[in-house]
Amino acid sequence: MQPSTHREDGTDLPMLEGERSPAMARVWARAPRWVRRPFVKIMRNEWVRLKLLSKLGLRSDSAFFALSPGGPTAIDAAMAKLKEQRLIGDYLEFGVYRGYTLWYAQRSADRSGFSEMRFFGFDSFEGLPEVQGNDRKAALFFAGDYRCGREEVERNLVDHGFDMDRAKLVEGYFNESLTTAVKKKLGMRSAALVMIDCDLYQSTVPVLDFIADLLQSGSIILFDDWDCFGGAEDLGELRAFREFLDGHPEWTAEPFVRFREYGRGFIMRPSVPRSPDGP
Ligand SMILES: C[S@@+](CC[C@H](N)C(=O)[O-])C[C@H]1O[C@@H](n2cnc3c(N)ncnc32)[C@H](O)[C@@H]1O
Repeated sequence: MQPSTHREDGTDLPMLEGERSPAMARVWARAPRWVRRPFVKIMRNEWVRLKLLSKLGLRSDSAFFALSPGGPTAIDAAMAKLKEQRLIGDYLEFGVYRGYTLWYAQRSADRSGFSEMRFFGFDSFEGLPEVQGNDRKAALFFAGDYRCGREEVERNLVDHGFDMDRAKLVEGYFNESLTTAVKKKLGMRSAALVMIDCDLYQSTVPVLDFIADLLQSGSIILFDDWDCFGGAEDLGELRAFREFLDGHPEWTAEPFVRFREYGRGFIMRPSVPRSPDGP
């Protein structure tokens, strides 16, 4: 077991600040629950959110922004940690949508001096698949949610100065696209930072299988939707990661960060083998 000052589930980690303005954050923090709840429900509809925020002058009408307000901050924290550990490897993102976090990751990497880092973005570019199993019963996500065509994503990236020469987009549903052949073809060897932003259990399982042999001591995994089902153990990314760790006792996940709205990050460390005489 890796020595850790954190509780095993990471719930004692402080929440990283997101992109919210400090004044707005203060107003929000003081609002009573009965005000917040309906507001959160309405704002989950992205079209409403975009229109409302742009009308209030809080965001430009551009569709290129961070879906999770804490995502960029978490990426910055991860890059800083990679630098501190001197860990070299690729950035992998599963769930690209319009490309904002992928774009931001390259920017953050450049600022941290990782000019050689490569960026891989995986997505169906058709939105979420048909939702299956327990996640379907939760009725939070539906087929086609977050659809953004590949051409639009590439345009977003290039228009905002993303260097495509250091990047590759891989199209397809993860259960079909995440193959050993693709890994070989792209020359993928080691992951430094993995952003898993695909909401569903069924999507996260093939992602974790795919990255298993790319992990190294110190690789960071950010789960953007860790708590989006209210922390339910049998749903979403949380369930997939718990099962992954059960099936890969050679890895220990050290809690690293929490970020808005529902994110959690871990640093992967090889487990210390238990001595047969030990406890
Ligand atoms: C919430 S969005 C990602 C947001 C993006 N990272 C950002 O912050 O801008 C989720 C994305 O995951 C993709 N996705 C989810 N499950 C998938 C699967 N099984 N195969 C391929 N893409 C999937 C969807 O197409 C969608 O683009």
